[in-house]
Amino acid sequence: MQPVSRRSALILGGVGAAATVTGAAGLLSGWGLGFPAAGGQDLSEPQALQSADGRLQVKLSAAPGQVRIAGRDANALSYNGSLPGPTLFLRPGDRVNVSLENRLADPTNLHVHGLHVSPEGNSDNALVSVEPGMSFDYEYRLPLNHPPGVYWYHPHRHGSAADQIFGGLYGAIIVQDSQPVPVSRERVLVISDISLTGGGSIAAVSAMEKMVGREGALVLVNGQLNPVLAARPGERERWRIINACTSRYLKLRLDGQELQLLGMDSGRYQSPRNVDEVLLAPGNRADLLVTAADGTAVLRTLPVDRGSMAGSMMGGNNGGGRFPAGPDGTALATFAVAGAPAAALAPVPSQPVPRDLRSLAVTAHRELVFAMGMGMNNGGADMGGGMGGGMGGGTGSGMMSFTINGRAFDPARVDTTVSAGAVEEWTLRNTSPMDHPVHLHVWPMQIVEQAGRPVDSPVWQDVVNVPARSSVRVRIAFDDFTGKTVYHCHILDHEDSGMMGLIEAR
Ligand code: C2O
Ligand code: CU
Ligand code: CU
Repeated sequence: MQPVSRRSALILGGVGAAATVTGAAGLLSGWGLGFPAAGGQDLSEPQALQSADGRLQVKLSAAPGQVRIAGRDANALSYNGSLPGPTLFLRPGDRVNVSLENRLADPTNLHVHGLHVSPEGNSDNALVSVEPGMSFDYEYRLPLNHPPGVYWYHPHRHGSAADQIFGGLYGAIIVQDSQPVPVSRERVLVISDISLTGGGSIAAVSAMEKMVGREGALVLVNGQLNPVLAARPGERERWRIINACTSRYLKLRLDGQELQLLGMDSGRYQSPRNVDEVLLAPGNRADLLVTAADGTAVLRTLPVDRGSMAGSMMGGNNGGGRFPAGPDGTALATFAVAGAPAAALAPVPSQPVPRDLRSLAVTAHRELVFAMGMGMNNGGADMGGGMGGGMGGGTGSGMMSFTINGRAFDPARVDTTVSAGAVEEWTLRNTSPMDHPVHLHVWPMQIVEQAGRPVDSPVWQDVVNVPARSSVRVRIAFDDFTGKTVYHCHILDHEDSGMMGLIEAR
């Protein structure tokens, strides 16, 4: 199969290119940007690849081409021809070999988001670049005490991460529990967004949209539009939900059903928490139990106010997206519960007591300031670093600088050096008028304080939202691995524009 889609589809269009305004009604009927999407089919799940005897060997071929999206054929990017790519089911202690083949027109690489594995060599090395036509063999060794949970993989090539993920490159990783949770059914739900033209190719994205963080016209579940999930009353389902959207926040509701959150990212609560809604910033995952009640319920994402560009005409409660949703949000899936009631299941086993770094001595305190400034030349006085390097590698939010501690990403500069084994406390401070979901590779973060208020119970995440003009304090234990990796904003347009830093543990 030859690559068929044009690289130009991914290249920056002019401001306002393809800026067809589609109202909420259009969105709900699935006609974002004229693509004749079709919804309402039964949920399909990505191919499942299971490790056996501690090993999994996978080939992932990243390529443009024809792929099924929202019930139609489209021209997008995908791993192995399907969107999302295959789900990798792993266990602690596994050795996983992924052979990544780059059939794209641009360099790419692979990141295993959230996995606690080495960032060096051919493990989860964010600095690798795989050129078009080349392959790279990754090998990940999961420690025996690797936490169970929901993870995912996606490209991480600085400058094109947003385009490549928006274009369709992502897949789920599940690390299985040692003690299974009794459920009637498990599902993997990868939520992503994309904008397609009437002809079915990826729509151009304007510089303005990149600045705010692009949001796609179609919000997909496993590449489908509003799929149907069937269950019987009383059944308990386990949904592993991934927010693979480039910039869109998800505020999920499933009214009329009973929801319990086992945890977020790799973090697990000691016992499941009853919830009415689940907020997932880009990159976050939820491990959710749904106990089915008779009737038809709609899984929706409600509008999230993630701030706006101060003083500009953009803004509103959808982060300034081109496709404002109504107050009821966007329907993502239909949960159809009918039939004879199911017998009750055994209770959910309680989880190990989560680790709590608040009882440990902190070896260093740091502050990371996430800032946006006007102008190519860093108009803000607090911004020292030149934008040359950052913008050169970026995809061009040309009118705005995106920095951490005044500097845009430079792969040749280590911004933060930590001692292996240290426990550090970081203050993540956001001086900008938009939220930034802050992500650190390899080591999860314990949230200890939000907007000046202490968090009482241990909450672990690897993407932590830092609201506009606010701050969050986290603790991090730099266990097990040394090497260089990154922290960044998971609004991937911001990351590509420079809001990323290099950290070295040694
Ligand atoms: Cu989900 Cu650095 O990435
Ligand atoms: Cu990551
Ligand atoms: Cu950001």
